[in-house]
Parts: sequence; C-alpha cells; structure tokens
Amino acid sequence: MRIVPPSKDDFRRTIGRFATGVTIITTRQGHHLHGMTANAVTSVSLDPLLVLVCVDKTADTHDILLKAGVFAVNILSINQQEISQKFATKNAEWTHGMEGVGYRAGATGSPIIEGCIAYLDCRTVTEQHGGDHTIFIGEVVEAAELSDGEPLLFYAGQFAALRHVAQ
Ligand SMILES: Cc1cc2nc3c(=O)[nH]c(=O)nc-3n(C[C@H](O)[C@H](O)[C@H](O)COP(=O)(O)O)c2cc1C
Repeated sequence: MRIVPPSKDDFRRTIGRFATGVTIITTRQGHHLHGMTANAVTSVSLDPLLVLVCVDKTADTHDILLKAGVFAVNILSINQQEISQKFATKNAEWTHGMEGVGYRAGATGSPIIEGCIAYLDCRTVTEQHGGDHTIFIGEVVEAAELSDGEPLLFYAGQFAALRHVAQ
C-alpha cells in the first residue's frame, strides 16, 4: 500500500476536527502590551504546573514573547467572539495592542482581559523549535476561574458553542 502524505489543507481540515477552546495570549515587554488569538494551547504538567502555546514564527507575537519571557492565557467566553476576531486579524491602524480593551495586569504584568472566563499567567521556562512554529512552555504563576459562563469554542474552522454541558 502506498501511503500518500496529506497536503497542508488535508492536515488543517483533519486537525480542525479536534474541538478546542479559544484564548488570547497576552504579554508585556516593558511598556508594550500585545495580544494574539490562539487555540494551540495545551496543559503540559502538574508538577511543576506547565502549559504550552504554539506560536507561528511569522506572527508579531513570536518575537515579542521571546523577549518578554512572560505570557497570560486568557480563556474566552462565548461573548468574546468579536475580540477574538480582532486579535486574529491585523489592520493598518491597530497592531494588537490593548487600546480600547478592558484589562488589568496579572502577576507577571501580562494583561488579563475583562470578561474572560479563566486565565493562567505564566513565566516562559522553555522554547522548543516546532517547524514553522515555536512551542513556548510556561510555568503557571497565577491562575483563576473568573466565571462559570460558557466558553467560546473553535471547530472545523469556525467559532462554535457548547450544545450540552455534561453534569
Ligand atoms: C481561532 C483561532 C486560533 C488561532 N490559533 C493560533 C495559534 O495557536 N498560534 C498562532 O500562531 N496563531 C494562531 N491564530 C492566528 C493568529 O491569531 C493571527 O495570525 C494573528 O493575526 C497573529 O497576531 P500577531 O501578528 O499580532 O502575533 C489563530 C487564529 C484563530 C482565529
């Protein structure tokens, strides 16, 4: 049997069937605050407490994260689809700073966005090469659930909502 490697589109469509939540990764480098929508976020370890985020090497966030050494994972609610789209698209006037966004500073100084349902504030401990992405592994220094509202989901290339919450 000849095994044909999948194309990028096949890969994207297939991995897109893995439903995820949606986050905004925020960071602070000096006075500069920055954010980016991300769903390649995973829990890694309980001892120590580690999470990872995979960031495209061409994203502005990539080099900012390398220098900042800190990031917060803001887990978005179903009511935050608009802000999620904003932090996933660039325009000439706005380059993913925090202007017009409600937030407070977390323990590392990274912005914690108003209305998110939970957050994890992290110090980067390792950066691993991952093809055209870098895997940033962060040790969690602060975490909180802020509401038990519904999460925003991403599935098959589209935003989605929970239909049923298991009891
Ligand atoms: C639902 C969703 C999830 C995304 N997940 C990631 C991700 O995990 N890693 C990544 O590098 N880009 C991801 N992106 C794309 C970035 O949000 C997008 O390229 C953004 O404009 C990068 O911003 P920056 O240049 O300010 O870093 C995602 C986009 C969407 C809509």
